[in-house]
Amino acid sequence: MAPILDDRSLEFISRSPEQTRRLGARLGQLLQGGEVICLEGSLGAGKTVIAQGIGRGWGAVGRLVSPSFVLVREHRRPTGHQRLLHADFYRLEQAQEVWGLGLQEWMEDPAVVVLIEWPERAPEVLPQERLWIRLEFAEETRRRLLFTAEGASYLALLRAFRRAAFGV
Ligand SMILES: Nc1ncnc2c1ncn2[C@@H]1O[C@H](COP(=O)(O)OP(=O)(O)OP(=O)(O)O)[C@@H](O)[C@H]1O
Ligand SMILES: [Mg+2]
Repeated sequence: MAPILDDRSLEFISRSPEQTRRLGARLGQLLQGGEVICLEGSLGAGKTVIAQGIGRGWGAVGRLVSPSFVLVREHRRPTGHQRLLHADFYRLEQAQEVWGLGLQEWMEDPAVVVLIEWPERAPEVLPQERLWIRLEFAEETRRRLLFTAEGASYLALLRAFRRAAFGV
């Protein structure tokens, strides 16, 4: 089920962590580099789980683990210079710390995909154009996922994702 809410949004109900990972992998396969993907949701909503799927689809070596304590983890593929950065802003004391992490430069690098958990902790450092994924806890193993494209290139990405994942 993939209700199309409007041109720039897509909603999905996931019934298991693996389903969330598979959906993430479909998205990860489409990433070219240069994308910023914000993962919003309460503790345990599934932000790291979908990030794992995105990493798997993108082709990361090894599995993504939560970057909560280190704030940011860098992942690579077996070959090539592309990178995937997985950040978690939960423990940020202040938004300026993001500059110290060098994330600002990474977010402007066309060879880098950036995933951010708890993006709302530092809204001022986020680019205006991004894919926003909101995960809501429905039941023990059910999550509502809401994808929203912000910016023309993300609209195109969301359309491609809809086709790849749901064939519509
Ligand atoms: N449908 C589902 N999709 C994703 N995760 C699910 C689902 N059902 C159950 N879960 C469970 O919910 C938990 C989600 O944990 P996860 O670490 O991804 O949360 P998080 O949003 O990253 O939290 P935090 O804010 O602590 O980083 C996992 O234990 C996972 O197994
Ligand atoms: Mg997490």
